Amino acid sequence: MRNWNRRKSMEFDALASEHRLRPTLSWWHLVALGVGAIVGTGIYTLVGIGASLAGPAVILSFAVAGAVCACAALCYAEVATMIPASGSAYTYSYAVIGELIAWIVGWSLILEYSLVVSAVAVGWSGYATGFLTSLGIPLPAAISAGPHAGGLLNVPAVLIVFAVAGLLALGSKESATVNAILVVVKIAALLLFVAVALPHYDASQFKPFMPYGFAAHPIDGVQHGVMAAAAIIFFAFYGFDAISTAAEEAKNPGRDLPIGIVGSMLICTALYVGVAAVAVGSMPFTVYANSPEPLALILRTLGQSQVAAVIGAAAIIALPTVILAFLFGQSRIFFVMARDGLLPESLARVSPRTGTPVRMTMVTALVVSVLAGLVPLDAIAALANAGTLAAFIAVAACMLILRRREPGRKRIFRTPLAWVVGPVAILGCLYLFWSLPSTTKLFFLIWNIVGLLIYLWVGRRSTGGPAR
Ligand code: ALA
Repeated sequence: MRNWNRRKSMEFDALASEHRLRPTLSWWHLVALGVGAIVGTGIYTLVGIGASLAGPAVILSFAVAGAVCACAALCYAEVATMIPASGSAYTYSYAVIGELIAWIVGWSLILEYSLVVSAVAVGWSGYATGFLTSLGIPLPAAISAGPHAGGLLNVPAVLIVFAVAGLLALGSKESATVNAILVVVKIAALLLFVAVALPHYDASQFKPFMPYGFAAHPIDGVQHGVMAAAAIIFFAFYGFDAISTAAEEAKNPGRDLPIGIVGSMLICTALYVGVAAVAVGSMPFTVYANSPEPLALILRTLGQSQVAAVIGAAAIIALPTVILAFLFGQSRIFFVMARDGLLPESLARVSPRTGTPVRMTMVTALVVSVLAGLVPLDAIAALANAGTLAAFIAVAACMLILRRREPGRKRIFRTPLAWVVGPVAILGCLYLFWSLPSTTKLFFLIWNIVGLLIYLWVGRRSTGGPAR
């Protein structure tokens, strides 16, 4: 029988070599991994959806979601450097709170990481299919959409997941370098958008600023308001937590993790506020509200079709970096959970040739590609957000618990104003969670009940404990 209250050791030096990941990543790999995971479908598509829910005050939604994420990022940086081991919030909760909460957090992280990978793969497939059509190579609907959209299987979405998984299986350093190049493409495209749309900026587009109010409330059955938009736009901000899943592979985790987490968060927040402000200022938000490609639509409406095409192409080339970062994180979380005996242990093997968990990466890719191939995009982002918010709450709680329980323990990075930042992160995440659509909250509850039942089932069969 497993002990739900057991805690994992916070020392990670004595693992058997086949269970240890190889440290090959430096700080700039981690910043690139973070920016690669953060800038994606969120900024490329959610500006439009956010504007439809909040009006020009979508800027405020970005600010609220960014502020909550920044507080969570600071908590992450402290805990990640105290516990520099793979597994992110799952591992921290296991070391600080106990096995049952760790399982719930791990279960929530599975929701976050898989749904982000699936959602971005489906989004990428949309761009890729459109691009092929513009080249005169239209794909039949049966192989370019899931059953919800009249197709059989979204083949491009499945293919992109496996292409990225193959890259990851080759080795973390190689894939992190490719990722860094693609990150440059992605940021350059957003800067190009700002440069081309900025001359059309008109402050009067910001009036009325908050047509749907602040708190989330239903209009025609859909949650509206600044907070409703923030709860969705939150999707655009996370990803920095994927860096902490690479902690064991960082060459100098004490210095590199805080630089990676806080640095990537700052770069992305500045970029988003710039893009969102220019988008809102360039034309009435109703023009691009709910568009699947708002940035390209804005540019086309401004008579810049060629620049719009460049931005579309950049999205096709660069969105896979988000898939890469989250698939990387997902495979590491599965890997660590298997190492702890909460998933089949035979999967927790590092390949002697590449130093990466090849088998686990491929199992992860299989699960995620099935979701990407068959499941509709609707509400996927919201559900991914629910899982992420749960993980963020756990990490902020771990930071505060450790401050109380082990005040003298060495901290390479200290969260500034911990007793303000920690509670703001927890309460902010709770408020964002509360602002999510009701169906999302219900699914999240069901997901966790299923998770608890599995935990009880695993607990009856296994007597194992954490690897360390
Ligand atoms: N932040 C990531 C994105 O926007 C998940 O795609």
